[in-house]
Amino acid sequence: MSVCYLNGDWMELSEARISPMDRGFLFGDGAYEVLPAYSGKVFRLDEHLRRLENTLSNLGLPNPMSREAWRDVVRSIVARNPWPDQSIYLQVTRGVAEVRTHAYPAEVTPTVFLMSEALTTPSDEVRAEGVSAVSSADFRWLRCDLKTVSLLANCMLKQLAAEQGCMETVLFRDGFLTEGAASSIFVVHDGVLRVPPKSHLMLPGITYDVVLELARDRGMPCQVREVLEEEVRAADELWMTSSTKEVLPITRLDGRPVGKGKPGPMAAQMGEWYQEFKQEVMRRGG
Ligand code: PDD
Repeated sequence: MSVCYLNGDWMELSEARISPMDRGFLFGDGAYEVLPAYSGKVFRLDEHLRRLENTLSNLGLPNPMSREAWRDVVRSIVARNPWPDQSIYLQVTRGVAEVRTHAYPAEVTPTVFLMSEALTTPSDEVRAEGVSAVSSADFRWLRCDLKTVSLLANCMLKQLAAEQGCMETVLFRDGFLTEGAASSIFVVHDGVLRVPPKSHLMLPGITYDVVLELARDRGMPCQVREVLEEEVRAADELWMTSSTKEVLPITRLDGRPVGKGKPGPMAAQMGEWYQEFKQEVMRRGG
């Protein structure tokens, strides 16, 4: 059983209905967020809501709720569902228009939808082993900083990995690392953690920020700068990070071992810090 929220009402997920005229369905015209909750407490709630507000304002989509109302509805969906750890999916589309026209229709009411699933983060065994990835040219659009539901390019790119039994696709644009199909990508070289700076070519990851904060606070050498494709291929360590995968070492890229082909010491260290930080946040109350 899973309880969802649709336009002000709570219901069973299987009961939820939207119109085929919804612009999310017709055009992928909407914003979304994925938020983790641990032991019933939402992780980095305000940071996710700030990113949502930024996506909405860039799409010219009126924000249907205040920050406080968003906090309430997100906390409420966690309380109404049974799992201690949850992955909350939140979506706002421009709404249902009477006719299908590309330009934004006047006076439509945004559709607001939230659902939740049990969150299963990678097991200790998977973390200890690492995962495999493939690479591809990043053929997405030039507003990858917006978290929109127009995700077909990301789905196509992730499918490349799935077809080869891999977890992620690492993306390169014009010879530089951007990110993964659904994650941020970090590299380690000679004891230095590197990640590309935020730009319109990548999503500003919430986990990306947490990892950089932890590295800076705890003295792990790190650099935010452009990363060349060659540097990725010659990395000692490669990590993918996201709200649902946390910090996960990639140990094979395109069939070749990354570094020694085993998760490196810096991934293990960051993984530990991340788990500690989660515990600390939960003690403070989310
Ligand atoms: N995706 N880059 C892309 C393209 C992503 O889709 C995601 C997350 C990230 C990592 O962002 P964060 O650390 O804020 O989760 C980076 C989510 C989990 C998804 O679409 O399911």
